[in-house]
Amino acid sequence: MSNRMWGGRFATGPDAIMEEINASIGFDQKLWRQDIRASLAHAAMLGRTGILTSEDVQAITDGLKAVEAEIESGGFTFSRALEDIHMNVESRLRELIGPAAGRLHTARSRNDQVATDMRLWVRDTADLIDQQIADVQLALAGKAAEHAGSVMPGFTHLQSAQPVTFGHHLLAYVEMLARDRGRFADARRRMNECPLGAAALAGTSFPIDRHATAAALGFSRPTANSLDSVSDRDFALEMLSAASITAMHLSRFAEEIVLWTTPQFGFVRLSDKFTTGSSIMPQKRNPDAAELVRGKAGRVFGALQGLLTMMKGLPLTYSKDMQEDKEGVFDALQTLSLCLAAIGGMVRDMEPDTKAMRKAAGLGYATATDLADWLVRVLKMPFRDAHHVTGKLVGLASSRNVGLEKLSLEEMQAVEPAITEEVFAVLGVERSVKSRTSHGGTAPALVRREAARWLKSLRKEAAAD
Ligand code: ARG
Repeated sequence: MSNRMWGGRFATGPDAIMEEINASIGFDQKLWRQDIRASLAHAAMLGRTGILTSEDVQAITDGLKAVEAEIESGGFTFSRALEDIHMNVESRLRELIGPAAGRLHTARSRNDQVATDMRLWVRDTADLIDQQIADVQLALAGKAAEHAGSVMPGFTHLQSAQPVTFGHHLLAYVEMLARDRGRFADARRRMNECPLGAAALAGTSFPIDRHATAAALGFSRPTANSLDSVSDRDFALEMLSAASITAMHLSRFAEEIVLWTTPQFGFVRLSDKFTTGSSIMPQKRNPDAAELVRGKAGRVFGALQGLLTMMKGLPLTYSKDMQEDKEGVFDALQTLSLCLAAIGGMVRDMEPDTKAMRKAAGLGYATATDLADWLVRVLKMPFRDAHHVTGKLVGLASSRNVGLEKLSLEEMQAVEPAITEEVFAVLGVERSVKSRTSHGGTAPALVRREAARWLKSLRKEAAAD
């Protein structure tokens, strides 16, 4: 049997393989809410403009709501022969209300329909992701406030560099996530135009009101060019770019959790809620959730790469290749959503071992820069010379296998006679972090203020939602 939706000129139905490669219902059924929402808006507009009678519109509206209830309750049977979500819904509508169902597709095409459904889905999901990012920020800022003064090693090249505070480190991620939210918000603003009514590609001869459908679906305006409307997927690409950058940030944090929870670092502990055991090594506590956040970033990046590659050769306007936009977009955004939930959970769960962090902060001559700065400040030495003197002192301490503070004044004076007793005050890690008071620095007072500022604005935003 030929397809009832488009089979007028076809004598027979498709080959089984044709059906298998062509059907998208296996994955695009995810769009059912958006598809019905857009159809309801379209039908209402067709009524208001007099293109359909109010009786037809009423029947279509009631029918679509009945289909929606069926899908919602799990009582709907999706059919592969009907290819995709659009035809599955319309076919069921016809079973429920009869021939009036056939009028719903007046002045539209599956091309503008799927573009609209995808935008709605991406927008809905991006809104959820935005809230989740804000929630992770809130968790990080809360921990940062608690640990504004907890000293830990700061690293460059993963080598001890200078002491910082744990709160400062966590707030670095709050900043990254703020930019991530900005990227999602920018992409949302740009994508918030409604393609519905572009029809197959050229627009329609019916007197439709595209502004009405755009407004009904929460879009800022209708898209301006019908060809662009059905062939553009850069809204999805932008969201995937934003998602990729966010996933990369989460992955870096996940990597740090993996490092920090090793016995060798021992900076933080995750409870049983976010660790797993090994089936052979009874002592193991594995940070699987963090590893998976790190690992899943690859899928998100892959979706971006996949969609870019799929789109790059397509002439205007729609080609069926574009049906391949869906699985990657669905998977990437849902993966990111899961990763955000996992990171939020781990941040709230993690208990830093402040003693271990403090101890590690003093290793690796982390206060060498403080010593050099002291030589500049107090002895008025040029920084390059101070760097050299400090290097000699570090070499001396290192050959003895002791910290800088363990050198005697005489030993120091043998390298630089002008050094006085005062120097020992800057060799402590607490003093070091306290002195970093430049804008954006790690001094506990600044970190406390920054954490409070973030908490205030995030809590205010959460209360307004
Ligand atoms: N399932 C299709 C997709 O996802 C819907 C659009 C089909 N359009 C067409 N001209 N065959 O892209």
